[in-house]
Amino acid sequence: MKGVVLAGGLGSRLYPLTKVTNKHLLPVYNEPMIYYPIRTLVNAGIEEIIIVTGGNNAGDFLRLLENGRDFGLKHINYTYQQGEGGIAAALGLAEHFADKEKIVVVLGDNIIETNIRAAADDFRKQKDGARILLKEVHDPQRFGVPVFEGKKIIRVEEKPVNPASNYAVIGIYMYDHRVFEFIRSLKPSQRGELEITDVNNFYIREGKMQWDVLDGWWSDAGTFESLQAAGNMVAETGANKI
Ligand code: G1P
Repeated sequence: MKGVVLAGGLGSRLYPLTKVTNKHLLPVYNEPMIYYPIRTLVNAGIEEIIIVTGGNNAGDFLRLLENGRDFGLKHINYTYQQGEGGIAAALGLAEHFADKEKIVVVLGDNIIETNIRAAADDFRKQKDGARILLKEVHDPQRFGVPVFEGKKIIRVEEKPVNPASNYAVIGIYMYDHRVFEFIRSLKPSQRGELEITDVNNFYIREGKMQWDVLDGWWSDAGTFESLQAAGNMVAETGANKI
């Protein structure tokens, strides 16, 4: 199983912090934001990792992360996204790297207190399909939100005005090789992006989606409020506990 960290985008919700640098290089308490998602993958036993980034600061990732030695890795792969296309478009660039293996995708601004080891191990055993992680939140309208029928997720709605549950689909996704086929068939959403939620709905329609609830806190760090909240939680309890 291989890992993908998505670290592109304009970070426009954090402007002017992102005027001269990439969002994922900003500090979250005492480390650059991207350290946390990389550790999430490493702690799940994933050693082959690619960083998808873009924009004017792509070279800074290489200088910061080098060959991944600080994370116990032998090597890190990088690829470059030209322009803006959304999360699913960025993920599409990892197809060659994935080379038909299963992948775990982490959004570069998603930080967790604990680890995803159990879910990753279950996905290793899962024959095919996908697996998402949920977390109960007080503001589900900011996220992808699962719609349940009993214990089954029947679809995910992206940033719904009237959320059907209090759960967010967090930015850690596990996919088999068919994800790239699904991405190719996507059409841009109203915000002009290829949505990861539409990818998840492909798997749900095929009855191939499993889910787990994440232990410990989770935060994205893509807005001023969530960036500050993430920093505070890291300071108080630490992140990426094994
Ligand atoms: C993205 C996804 C959303 C998910 C969230 C997690 O939102 O579209 O479904 O819940 O990441 O951080 P965005 O960061 O694009 O607003």
